[in-house]
Amino acid sequence: MKIRILRQKTPETEPYWESFNYEGTMEISVAGVLDRLNFGDDIINDLGEKTDRIGWECSCLQGMCGACAMVINDTPALACETFLKNLKGDKVVLRPLKKFSVVHDLIVDRSVIHETLKSTNVYIGEYNPKEKENHEHQYLVANCLKCGLCLEICPNYTNGKSFYGAVYANDCYLVKARNRDKSRDISSSYAEHFANSCSKVLSCMDVCPMHIPTLSSMAKMNRG
Ligand code: SF4
Ligand code: SF4
Ligand code: FES
Repeated sequence: MKIRILRQKTPETEPYWESFNYEGTMEISVAGVLDRLNFGDDIINDLGEKTDRIGWECSCLQGMCGACAMVINDTPALACETFLKNLKGDKVVLRPLKKFSVVHDLIVDRSVIHETLKSTNVYIGEYNPKEKENHEHQYLVANCLKCGLCLEICPNYTNGKSFYGAVYANDCYLVKARNRDKSRDISSSYAEHFANSCSKVLSCMDVCPMHIPTLSSMAKMNRG
């Protein structure tokens, strides 16, 4: 099977395509394939040439950290949760998330997600929950990995320029539910950076590996 990867040596250099041959079980994740291609002293591409080790990130290898988020055959997904046997076609095409700047190969800089939350005061701070809150929903929302897959697929998100995407909507809900500090009213930020521009097609929910109920967070925010 061909593994075609959009590579980039540094943030300043031009991206280029390079392919590799993978021969082995289909009962393996894309993360497992990358690991195998990087195994050994010499990394060999499909032309039989020596090349650099493929840059990609992982931590948990079980869908719990979000580090391995990338675009797999045109769909934003986690490499450790995507198995070859479930992919169509005879090749796998891997690209870094294009909504963020590339650091190296499949590694991108997603710090903008945290920067936008910080700059608009969307963090919990002192835990001070409302008395009657929906803890089940809070628990689901708190599972967000900040992987950026929902931002990659969102037609309105462009690297945190003004619309902050599903991550922001969910975290606004969480902060509003858990912190009653009136000096930190985030409703206007929520409207400015999410509600006024979200088209509600919900492709963000389709790709979310944690199945975060963004629509429900929106409804709760809109109820005030
Ligand atoms: S909402 Fe889902 S897709 Fe978006 S960053 Fe969180 S876990 Fe990832
Ligand atoms: S509903 Fe559509 S526009 Fe709104 S955050 Fe999700 S993908 Fe983006
Ligand atoms: S390595 Fe943690 S989610 Fe894939």
